[in-house]
Amino acid sequence: MKDQYVHHTETIRTPAKINLHLEILARRTDGYHDLETLMVPISIFDSLSFTATSDEKLTLRCGWEPGIEAHRIASQHWGVESPWEPLPAPEQNLAWRAIARLREEAQVETGGHLRITKRIPAAAGLGGASSNAAAALVLANRGWNLHWDTDRLAELASRLGSDVPFFLYGEAAICRGRGERIETLGTIPRLHVVVVRPLQGLSTADVFRRCRVPESPQSCQPMADALRRGDNVAVAAGLHNRLHAASAALSPSVARMVDALQQVGGVGYSMSGSGTSHFVMCRNHRHAQTVAGRMRSIGIGAVFQAQSV
Ligand code: C5P
Repeated sequence: MKDQYVHHTETIRTPAKINLHLEILARRTDGYHDLETLMVPISIFDSLSFTATSDEKLTLRCGWEPGIEAHRIASQHWGVESPWEPLPAPEQNLAWRAIARLREEAQVETGGHLRITKRIPAAAGLGGASSNAAAALVLANRGWNLHWDTDRLAELASRLGSDVPFFLYGEAAICRGRGERIETLGTIPRLHVVVVRPLQGLSTADVFRRCRVPESPQSCQPMADALRRGDNVAVAAGLHNRLHAASAALSPSVARMVDALQQVGGVGYSMSGSGTSHFVMCRNHRHAQTVAGRMRSIGIGAVFQAQSV
């Protein structure tokens, strides 16, 4: 078979993230905020594949995993709220926009096809769209034989979204600036968490618009040190998210979440990113199973048992 007819497809899993610490340092003149946040990738995965094609088109097929889609359609049919939102049109999909920009800047003349199967809830503070965009850049870089290094991809990634560069490095990191300046922390001891995405989501921009810049910001350093020492008790005790008050003011489901989280017997809990997802830190896998079971029986949203990856 002629080589130009053979289209190789590469597939990868794209993780979600949680923020163990998120502090706002300043409001900027460009509409963003200077942050210091410590993020950890976790084992809730979307899957993404990329095929380089010989035509000029960029195409995307993106859908919820079949089980989730069935749940979403049934909820719509019965008029009940669901944590699974409709997905955006291809041109609004961040992964599609990422490879469109890469194609333009690298002056690629051929095309590509992206396929994304979603499991990470949207509007949740879990970074699903950013993670997809980072994975799409990595695969398109390989599929189109561009040989851009990670720093070059990260510069493009930072123009797509503040969290996209973090996912290119793929490990726990302190993120500063808008979130695009990455200090990786290397391997950290495994964390066991239960994540819950309430029925309502929130837009990141709305939450940031409402947040307050604190007079004395809390440093990320104690959290980074606790992680490096493997002191999960100190990690759980030090969880911090400055955006929580703004999210709780905007969404009753965030305000209600605290009651539920106090009942399930975790060692600590916090909100991820701009919400509305929250996570509960657990001692080990079995403890997380128990906590996830209790959380499901409360019935306040989609519940995931996950680990740091
Ligand atoms: O960078 P990203 O597109 O993910 O950000 C979404 C919105 O969140 C921005 O338009 C901005 O309003 C807000 N944001 C912010 N400060 C940051 C990151 C995001 O104000 N560091």
